[in-house]
Amino acid sequence: METVNHQLNIQKTEHSRLPSEPLHHIPFGRIFSDHIFVATYDNGTWEDLKIMPYSNLTMTPAMAVLHYGQAVFEGMKAYKSATGETLIFRPDANFRRINKSAHRLCMPPIPEEIFMEGLKELIRLDSAWIPESEGSLYIRPLYFATDEFIGLKPSTHYTLIIMSCPVGAYYSEPVKLIVTDKYIRACEGGTGSAKCAGNYAASLLADKEAKALGYDNVIWLDGIHKKYVEECGTMNLAFVIDNVVVTPQLTGTILEGITRDSVLTLFRDQGVKVEERLISIQEVAEAYDKGILQEAFGMGTAATIAHVSKIGYQGRDLILPPISERKYGQSILEQLEAIKTGKVPDRYGWVWKI
Ligand code: COI
Repeated sequence: METVNHQLNIQKTEHSRLPSEPLHHIPFGRIFSDHIFVATYDNGTWEDLKIMPYSNLTMTPAMAVLHYGQAVFEGMKAYKSATGETLIFRPDANFRRINKSAHRLCMPPIPEEIFMEGLKELIRLDSAWIPESEGSLYIRPLYFATDEFIGLKPSTHYTLIIMSCPVGAYYSEPVKLIVTDKYIRACEGGTGSAKCAGNYAASLLADKEAKALGYDNVIWLDGIHKKYVEECGTMNLAFVIDNVVVTPQLTGTILEGITRDSVLTLFRDQGVKVEERLISIQEVAEAYDKGILQEAFGMGTAATIAHVSKIGYQGRDLILPPISERKYGQSILEQLEAIKTGKVPDRYGWVWKI
């Protein structure tokens, strides 16, 4: 039986580090806001809920997460509306997903009131860190195992941290991707749909090799046939083929992206044909050769909508049209940003005013 001590202890910083430069100019993920939220789990009890000044953590070298990687995280964003309100995009979806990821890594669920109260209080306290006209405050919940023990078993102690950083674009230019069949990201029954640290660590070598070839990242293929497009690692992918938006179906091996879901919902509601299905990289290449591959774009919280400018596949590059000629990805990006910043009414209940 889990117990929760609701008392939230707030210790404010006496020295804000808020930079004077425009916040959206700060490189992604480099400067963190003044406070963090921390909650700990000790053998069935959630306790010691606090908001404290951003600072280093102390840890034992035997801390379980460092050895066996029991760590899951989330990414969401807060915005300022034109009237100065603080808006968070779909935090309920992030809350559900972190617990789904936690379940897969054999970690106890985070109680909703802890996650939501911690999140809201933290972002209220650091609301001056939300960029005003462009950009957003990227929010990173991180949940990890803290047992002091070397031996493989689920931890009995955990820490949940929520931290944030002001950000502009994750990708400042359209991205160049290369298809890899040398490595795989996930296989059925694995952790592909969990937002766990290990998935990202395992992607780094392929990513490094892609960069050495002049690309920004890879397109992962399915682990069995090495045929079907999965995702990009930093974001989900969609292709526009003959005016149909086609995106890999959720098979348990790709991240169940919240931006992906938002984009598909908006497209469908506007009468755009959307297909969630298996899509082979061969089909993408054939569509290109027939002149009906109109667009490719990534969808993610950090990346928002990232236009794909080039796809390297089997020794050649599929070159996609410039942004000025794209009507799907660019329009959905603008619509999403308008909803997130309160410029247009939110018909979906996605935007939380805090
Ligand atoms: C996000 O989009 O929130 C992510 O966690 C992706 C990461 C590569 C920044």
